Amino acid sequence: MAETKKPAGTQDTDQTKSTAAATKTAAKKTTAARTKTAATAKAGTKTATEAPKATAAKKPAAKPAAAKAAEKPAAAKPAAAKKAPAAKPAAKAKAADAVATKEAAPAKATAAAKPAAAAAKKPAAKRTSTRPTKAQLAAAKEAADKVFAERLARHHDELRWLYMELYDNGDMFAELCDQMKRFYDERTPKLRALDAEREAAGAWYRASDMLGMQMYIDNFAGTIKGVEKKLNYIQQCNVNYIHLMPFLDTPADKSRSDGGYAVSDFRRVNPELGTMDDLAHLADKCHDKGISLCMDFVMNHTSEDHEWARRARAGEGEYMNRYFFVKDQGIIDQYTRDVPQVFPTTAPGHFTYLPELDQCVMTQFYPYQWDLNYKNPRVFNEMMYNFLFLANQGMDIIRIDAVPYIWKQLGTNCRNLKQVHTIVRMMRMIGEIVCPGIVLLGEVVMAPVEVVPYFGTVEKPECHMLYNVTTMATTWHTVACRDVRLLRQQLDAVFGLPREYTFLNYLRCHDDIGWGLDYDTLKQWGMEEVSHKKYVNDYFQGFTPGSVSRGELYNADPVTGDARFCATTASMCGIEAAGFEGNEEAMDTAIRKDVMLHAYVFTQSGLPIIYSGDEIGQVNDYTYKEDPEKAEDSRYIHRGKFDWELSKNIKKKGTVQERIFDALKQLEGIRRDEPVFGADAEAWTKDYSDTSILWIVRRAGNETLHAVFNFSDDAKTIWMPEAGIYTNLVTGETAEVTTVDMPAWSFIWMLQK
Ligand code: GLC
Repeated sequence: MAETKKPAGTQDTDQTKSTAAATKTAAKKTTAARTKTAATAKAGTKTATEAPKATAAKKPAAKPAAAKAAEKPAAAKPAAAKKAPAAKPAAKAKAADAVATKEAAPAKATAAAKPAAAAAKKPAAKRTSTRPTKAQLAAAKEAADKVFAERLARHHDELRWLYMELYDNGDMFAELCDQMKRFYDERTPKLRALDAEREAAGAWYRASDMLGMQMYIDNFAGTIKGVEKKLNYIQQCNVNYIHLMPFLDTPADKSRSDGGYAVSDFRRVNPELGTMDDLAHLADKCHDKGISLCMDFVMNHTSEDHEWARRARAGEGEYMNRYFFVKDQGIIDQYTRDVPQVFPTTAPGHFTYLPELDQCVMTQFYPYQWDLNYKNPRVFNEMMYNFLFLANQGMDIIRIDAVPYIWKQLGTNCRNLKQVHTIVRMMRMIGEIVCPGIVLLGEVVMAPVEVVPYFGTVEKPECHMLYNVTTMATTWHTVACRDVRLLRQQLDAVFGLPREYTFLNYLRCHDDIGWGLDYDTLKQWGMEEVSHKKYVNDYFQGFTPGSVSRGELYNADPVTGDARFCATTASMCGIEAAGFEGNEEAMDTAIRKDVMLHAYVFTQSGLPIIYSGDEIGQVNDYTYKEDPEKAEDSRYIHRGKFDWELSKNIKKKGTVQERIFDALKQLEGIRRDEPVFGADAEAWTKDYSDTSILWIVRRAGNETLHAVFNFSDDAKTIWMPEAGIYTNLVTGETAEVTTVDMPAWSFIWMLQK
């Protein structure tokens, strides 16, 4: 096995992505150890070392209108730009599938130039009585064009600058501008109205009534249509943001689909789940109910079944240039040396050998997930069109999957390179021009220092939201150690960031928990990385005396001893064990722990996300072991089917489901209604003498919230900072309080005015 070790502290954050499912295919991957004999490449094939070229760049074409429209004379240079983009003759070539947009030139302002959304809203409603006249339609169109032209003008110079810096290809940039206009034109009036509303509202996703839920469509309701039928339940859960796990077309064989993260067609829904029309219909219904939809945009790679990959495999040079093909073992060796591995045990190596071409293709994740080559502007442009196409189906939040990996450069570690930030920044601007209502959510599972730059700067933002992954992992470390010191440091670091930086907070997601903790700090307290990882993994498997958790390791590396962990929140809190033992007292504690952890997530600034099933305390699902396509991927333990039978218990007083469901609902209501939970409230942690007590303070106006969490197996008496009148937000009681008795794993939300 060829291995490259990462610097301490970043190791397992990268590794957070491995899975056991690839054991079968892993053998196919090349490693540095393999010495290949070079054979002649198939005629017409190219290798990755060749510079990618824009396709079909042959004959001159007029400069596309949309690009022209936004050009200003002697535009000011964007501040971040370092060198002048090489000026290219305006239109040397016509890109293959450019769609020239004729009417993109900015309309001269007229009386009819109302906001496009408002103008577009009117006519459709009363089609029978008042059909819009030609003049009205023309006016609406003019108004809409003006909005686009203004948005494009706002970003054009910076966008062009960055594009030219990366690709130095004016024709492809012109094509991009034309396509942006086309997607803008195709956006429905309703979506444009939503864009306008959200543009006016500002950062709409930061409202404290936002609550997300992450779900697999098939597990939750079978199909997209099924999800639509369950919207009432979703609303009953107070949820107004649904993250639908990957639903685009993917190989039917689950051992080649990575749970849908191997996309074979970005414009087609997996037929097992429905159609693109079903999706657009669901989005529409959701919008009527004030619910937003989030989807994964897997832009680092495609499935080997994607048309581009199939054509590349057939030796078509143009398509090979959309991936990284390598013949030279020296290059493979260098990547192996410099680039950390995503799946070190189950899918080692960075390349997969294709005998039909006698070449290797880069596959950083699984051998069936081919890394896209963003050095090729055709790849960037086409992927942006896919993004806009999906946004136009009514998606509100685009989760950019595995974003740190998208730019590769021999001689670097191929993570978080500056070109990645250029691409994300361009994507942000493209979104703001075409569909400003949408939100980019970055999946950056990296050390904290690498995460924050994905927000960009306040002036030049990149992602709107990022996963708070380190806080999540540190939370579970805190549960296992019953020591809040590291968590406090982590929370204070996050609380200290600009308020515009919005994190997505969660206890569990669909992936494993990688122990990407701050080991430099832990070392000061006597906790060493290797032994500590073993400790937390033992604890959560229930091997440590006193541990009530149940779950399984993931991608355990027998050489390094490294491993990550999989289980549902409820199982990690002890609900599975207590249920199995029929131990009511243990169940009380487990439910208290589960609710307390949710209260703690709700106390953080940002957007909380619940994993579907957590609202009723669903435990681990071991049936994946019986499915040969899933058996080797222990992440399926926490990806079980939603149990609708069990969910009926939310109406039965005293059941586990009712206790958790009602408790969460109450907390969500408080969070929504109390200004101290607002995104702009100040927040910090308070030093307290007992290291198993986490104390978060939030302040808004003259109100102060003391949110105190007992991360201990023992009851504690805590002292309020000053005797005074406090309102317990959960019990509703207002009284003079000096001390509070807190059972093990309980919390209080005390409001002081
Ligand atoms: C993301 C997903 C993970 C998947 C990987 C590869 O990290 O969360 O489930 O395996 O991307 O696409």
